Amino acid sequence: MAKAADYGLGPETFPRGWFIVAESSELDAGPMAVRYFGRDLALYRGQSGRPVLLDAYCAHMGTHLTASKSAVIVRSGAQIEGDSIRCPYHAWRYGPDGHVDDIPYHDGPCPKSASIRSYPVRDVMGCVMMWFDPAGGEPEFEPPFIAAWNDPKAVHWKLDHLGMIDIHNIEILDNMADVRHLGPTHGAPCEYFENEFRDHLVIQRQGGFIGFYNTHLHTATWYTGPGLLLSKQAFADTVMFELIANTPVEDGVTKAWHAVFMMGKNAPPSAEDIAAQQAAQAGALEAFGTDFEIWKNKRSAIKVMQLKTDGPFNSVRKWVGSFYQPRDQGQALREQMNGVQAVHNFPQPPRSYQEQGFESDMFGSLS
Ligand code: FES
Ligand SMILES: [Fe+2]
Repeated sequence: MAKAADYGLGPETFPRGWFIVAESSELDAGPMAVRYFGRDLALYRGQSGRPVLLDAYCAHMGTHLTASKSAVIVRSGAQIEGDSIRCPYHAWRYGPDGHVDDIPYHDGPCPKSASIRSYPVRDVMGCVMMWFDPAGGEPEFEPPFIAAWNDPKAVHWKLDHLGMIDIHNIEILDNMADVRHLGPTHGAPCEYFENEFRDHLVIQRQGGFIGFYNTHLHTATWYTGPGLLLSKQAFADTVMFELIANTPVEDGVTKAWHAVFMMGKNAPPSAEDIAAQQAAQAGALEAFGTDFEIWKNKRSAIKVMQLKTDGPFNSVRKWVGSFYQPRDQGQALREQMNGVQAVHNFPQPPRSYQEQGFESDMFGSLS
């Protein structure tokens, strides 16, 4: 399976960014042992509700902090203390910052060398997200947030867990530029298309008349960093947001999730509103499933054999590559790239969508 270095994305093996590591409801059920970015991680929710993500192994003797279900300290509910966690082996206590602050059988200060790495985590729209930076830096930007999520009529999604796929996430991100697959793969050939690069966002606007459904479709899709796609889609009298998330598990292996969020007609949403959201998510999953099937079975495209009339795959890859480079260089690269890019000999979207405020509820972030 092709790896980051094969694609020449940058010096790092894994990119900076926000990435889903669990669904919030999974974490409500108790501490989780997870693996992303080629490392074992311990995820738990503190008593304040705060999610905490640490490197998995206790410095004392290497015990996985969240993989024991049978230790008495776990079974008795004493493992989590405030927002700290005790190791199931000898009960050393780790704070959410990864420092040991209590050893039950030791007087005096705890060894500083016992500290393990703690990662920034956010609970956003039913998803637990981590900030990953190979250099251990603080977040460069915040995760995306759709303001309507807090509206009393909002019908919240439950994630489709798509599992692991033996493909580097660059091949999933290629989709942002892929104007020419919309007809053959999805039966929705577009009449207009463009990409825009905007710092840590890459945007795709496309749409047209879909004969098969006898309706006009307009979509505006954006990645916030390389791990989180949201797509606003309007057709007939439906407006919805689709989520497609990818998180590297190993170099060249990716885990993916999918969901759809929309507004109901009632506050709180009625059974009918919920059924409509579930139907929309199932329909979107079917459409996305066709991409997923292709990704599962394709060989790696180390280089795209790009035609002039393809979408700008190479630009999207360059943008993705910026997250595999040291932060300053990555930011400088993205600043150079900022702007709209059209497809050769292909119409761009009518500006009226933007003028009418179609994008006014996009690009929000957790504040
Ligand atoms: S191995 Fe964790 S406290 Fe001993
Ligand atoms: Fe697609």
